[in-house]
Order: sequence, then structure tokens, then C-alpha cells
Amino acid sequence: KSAGAAGAALSVTGCLGGGGGSETITIGSDIPYPPFEMMENGEVTGFDPAIAQAVFTDELGYEHSFKDTSFDGIIQALNNGNFRVIMSAMTITEERAQEVDFSDPYFTAYQTIATLENSDITSKADLAGKTVGVQKGTTGAGAAEQLKSELNGDLTIKRYDTIASAFNALLNNQVAAVINDNTVSAEYVSKNDEDLRFVEGEGAAAEQGREAPPYLTLTVEDYGIAFRKGDELVSEVNDALATIKENGTYDDIYSEYFAG
Ligand code: ARG
Repeated sequence: KSAGAAGAALSVTGCLGGGGGSETITIGSDIPYPPFEMMENGEVTGFDPAIAQAVFTDELGYEHSFKDTSFDGIIQALNNGNFRVIMSAMTITEERAQEVDFSDPYFTAYQTIATLENSDITSKADLAGKTVGVQKGTTGAGAAEQLKSELNGDLTIKRYDTIASAFNALLNNQVAAVINDNTVSAEYVSKNDEDLRFVEGEGAAAEQGREAPPYLTLTVEDYGIAFRKGDELVSEVNDALATIKENGTYDDIYSEYFAG
């Protein structure tokens, strides 16, 4: 399949204002999840909105708009017709793929453990007997469940509606650690760098031969855009994603949000 050639053709159509015409694609997302989705002066910004602009509007010629929705239940909201697609730093998983169709991957992420700077936690094993915070319905919650079974059940998991409340709980000593996507936790860690740090070590990334981030990784995950099963938009979107990866747009957006 020559996604590149098809993508290039669509790109020209998009520039001429053809393609999708004036149809508006509504995008469900749980905001905030910085730097993927943030609310700034009443506007939705972040990596996902920038990719949405490039893919849906610049390449495919659709209008698009974001709809804030809770992450837990976001797939059900999609399938109820509350919006057309999900862009919410959502990891492609087999379980979710039973209920939605995913685009090709557009970002790689790792589950990580953030803890208080002055805590005694330096490994997964040190979490035995402790409480970790996660966002409800996320792969972070799944990684916490996995860790709990590795610790023979000796772990308490607290589930929060937003990642912001999980980090508040950490800063207020209500949980010993937060398990969450690396780049998002990195945002909280760097904003509170006197109080928070990552648990270090090698993990899933190194095991899979990936260029490992400088902290322990529990999983390797890919983000995808989610669609209702059978939505024909997915192939257009995959072509547009291929185009922006080829023509440098993706790299420009990437370096805007992830320096280095
Ligand atoms: N990548 C994780 C998952 O898919 C977390 C996503 C949370 N996204 C958000 N916008 N709150 O489960």
C-alpha cells in the first residue's frame, strides 16, 4: 500500500480547500493531560490539537473541534455518538481494539513511576505495602494492577478522575507514587522538580531495544486516534499521518512540545 503517494495527493487537495469540505470532525479528549491536551485562555492546545490541525484540517480539509470528556468512559462516549473520534494520548491496546478502530500509531510512550524527591522508593519492589495513584481507566491503572500482582497483592491502588488530582495526591503525601505516561509525568516532575522525581532503572524500553529514557519504564505503548468500528475516515487519517511524518510537519510539532 503506497500511503506516501496517496498522502501527497491528499495534501494537494487539502491545500486547495477541497477534500473534506466544511464538515466538522468533533474530537473527544480528556483535558488537561499536558503536553498532549491543555486549556489555555479558553483554547485547547497541545500535541494532540497540533496533530489534529495538521491531519484533519490542513491535510484533509475538514473543520475540527475538541470536546472535553472524562477519560474513563471515553470509548463509550465515542460509541454513543458524542463525538466522531478520540484524540487523548490514548494507547492502542488489544482490549480497546475490540471496541474501536485505531489509526496507525503516532506517538510512543512508557509507563513510569513518579515519586516524592525525598521518598525511599528507588525500585518497583520498594512499592510493596504502599499506595500508588493512577488515572481511572488508563494503561497506568493497568500497569499498577500488573505491579500489584508482581508484589503478590501488596499494593494499594487509588484511582483518580484526572491525572492532575493524582499528582496533587502525591504532592500531599496521600499516595507514595503516581504511575502514568512518561512525557506527561515529566511535565509534572519538571514543574515540581524540588519535590518530585522519577524512579530510575532499566525496564521495558531497554528490554525492547528502544532508546531508553533515563528512568524506569514499565511498558512500551503506542498512541492512536480512535474511531467507531468501521468508520471510513480511518484510512484518510492514516494517509494524512504518513504525509505529515514524511514532509517534516510531524517533526516540527514534535520539537515544539518535546525539546531535544
Ligand atoms: N495513554 C494512557 C492510556 O491510554 C493515558 C491516557 C490519558 N489521556 C488523557 N488525556 N487523560 O490509557
